[in-house]
Amino acid sequence: MCGIVGYIGYKNAKEILLEGLKSLSYRGYDSSGIALKEESSLLIVKSEGKLENLEAKIASFSIIPTLVTDLTSTNFNREVNARGQELLDKSTCGIGHTRWATHGKPNFTNSHPHQDEVGNIAIVHNGIIKNFFDLKAKLEDEGFVFKTETDTEVVAQLIYKFKLQGKDLKSALREALKLVDGSYAIAVIAKDDDKIYLAKNQSPLIIGIGDKENYIASDSSTVVQYTNKILRLKDKQIAVLSANDVIVEDLEGNSVAIQIIHSTQTASIMEKGQYKHFLEKEIHEQPTVISKMIADAFVDETINEFKQLDFSFKDISKITFVACGSAYHAALVGKNIIEHWAKIPVDVAIASEFCSKPALVSKTDLVIGISQSGETADTLAAIKNAKSANAKIMAITNKNDSAIFDLCKPNNYVTPAGIEVSVASTKAFTSQVLAMYLLAMKICQDKKLNFDFQSNIYELRALPIIIGECIERENQYKSQMIKYSNYRDFLFLSRGVNYPIALEGALKLKELSYIHATGYPSGEMKHGPIAILDSTVPVLNIAISGKTEFEQTIYKKTLSNAEEAKARMSPSIVIACDSDENVENLFDEVIRIPDVSQIFSPIVATIPLQFLAYFIAENLGKDVDQPRNLAKSVTVE
Ligand code: F6R
Repeated sequence: MCGIVGYIGYKNAKEILLEGLKSLSYRGYDSSGIALKEESSLLIVKSEGKLENLEAKIASFSIIPTLVTDLTSTNFNREVNARGQELLDKSTCGIGHTRWATHGKPNFTNSHPHQDEVGNIAIVHNGIIKNFFDLKAKLEDEGFVFKTETDTEVVAQLIYKFKLQGKDLKSALREALKLVDGSYAIAVIAKDDDKIYLAKNQSPLIIGIGDKENYIASDSSTVVQYTNKILRLKDKQIAVLSANDVIVEDLEGNSVAIQIIHSTQTASIMEKGQYKHFLEKEIHEQPTVISKMIADAFVDETINEFKQLDFSFKDISKITFVACGSAYHAALVGKNIIEHWAKIPVDVAIASEFCSKPALVSKTDLVIGISQSGETADTLAAIKNAKSANAKIMAITNKNDSAIFDLCKPNNYVTPAGIEVSVASTKAFTSQVLAMYLLAMKICQDKKLNFDFQSNIYELRALPIIIGECIERENQYKSQMIKYSNYRDFLFLSRGVNYPIALEGALKLKELSYIHATGYPSGEMKHGPIAILDSTVPVLNIAISGKTEFEQTIYKKTLSNAEEAKARMSPSIVIACDSDENVENLFDEVIRIPDVSQIFSPIVATIPLQFLAYFIAENLGKDVDQPRNLAKSVTVE
């Protein structure tokens, strides 16, 4: 992951870099740092932990000179300090980084920017240099001295090595990258050079083209407040930026034609409004998102979406979803709905696992990647894997300006969830789940199946109101839920269409509160997990009664599995509909949701689970919006 930013032009670089890092902190927040350049001086300021720490260091710069490294020749702190302050105030060229640690602990030493041995260059990097261990060992044999545990420092030292051989910075970078195996988005500045050098392979990197200024970022939403002219670097390209110019070359040094797109994105609104956390705000936004999706989805009883697809579902014999985390759970709901309604076999693969073996797909197979960010490296790799095996590919993503969107063009469906700031997915997840219903209906339509559009669309249209009612129960949920804060283990169970929601509930709880939680199919509990149950392990069940005999069977079996857990003294919790009278005497805690049919219940049952994770995490004093060790956009495999 990690986020990188850069600026070259006429404005104060420090301000732009800090603003950029703020908007990129969803990509990691283990540490952050900036490097500024003016004339032949470089100033590096970096800090462990969140961006606030870096901002505080910069604000108190003049009284804490030891926190900075000025790479000019002077050794006198007072002079270093004065020159450093001058760079902070005047520099119009710099790069910055927010880190999600891959190689090396998340400490000060390993924070970016990194340098070569003599401190001539400053480099920031997002990605993983796979052969860094071998490269480092070889460089060490040659006498190069390393200061950090990072893979990035290897690139800095390689550049230095080639510069020692008389190459200029661009050629040295090119030669270094020829030796590197792995993913990278890199920005480099140097004391003895006035430009910013960029390189990209498999990690995102964009340039925002301005008037006498240029911006660099991992994500275009960071620069659209300054310019909507965006250049997305392609893999194995190098770019050289000055204030007035952008040159792009391949790794052989051949110049490459530049393709500028005009982004329609608006600057991200990062306001919490009346809410204490972005997470709570985003939970509350769900009725609006779902309502918009449904309003856009239908004209009369016809699906208005998926029009731009270059194939028809009648030619598809099998669908495979590839996704990670919450998006994988949405895909599991999709399997249930599509197989039930549209009678097409559906596989769901964890994206990183799909890449671990040859893809057994052919040209009548459709492989659909689901990804909020559109940048998840595992999902991107899985879709590429499917494409190279000649399957049709498609994406369901929340970002129309992303690598996954680009790869799958024109076969995209963009969820309208808007920017999700909180690291844990809420509104993006429910919009992905809703997309599964729309997709299933589209397949029925293309295959001209005998499907009751009218009554199902009627039920779909009721969802925003039902979800809204659920959200209004926030305070009631809170009073029921926070008493579970001190348990250390949880089991989440359900069957059928709500089994993926049990997985999602467990994921939300563990990522926000750091409490261990496992999601399991209710029927599978007796085959092993039941062994962990006792009075210290609450079991949360999702039990939604059904209209059809089939749904009723699922419901009854879910209840009887819940009884098995209760018999082991586990505190028993259930999510059930308002009108369900069976559950009151069976469970210690009944969390009510408005009545909804079983097949449409996953989106609704998700809401109390989001609140459960939120309230417990907040009660335990956890960082709700930026839980430890996580990042919103996972751009490494
Ligand atoms: C969980 C969460 C993650 C993401 C996963 C995939 O709350 O946010 O599990 O769902 O990292 O991310 P995207 O959807 O961006 O591919």
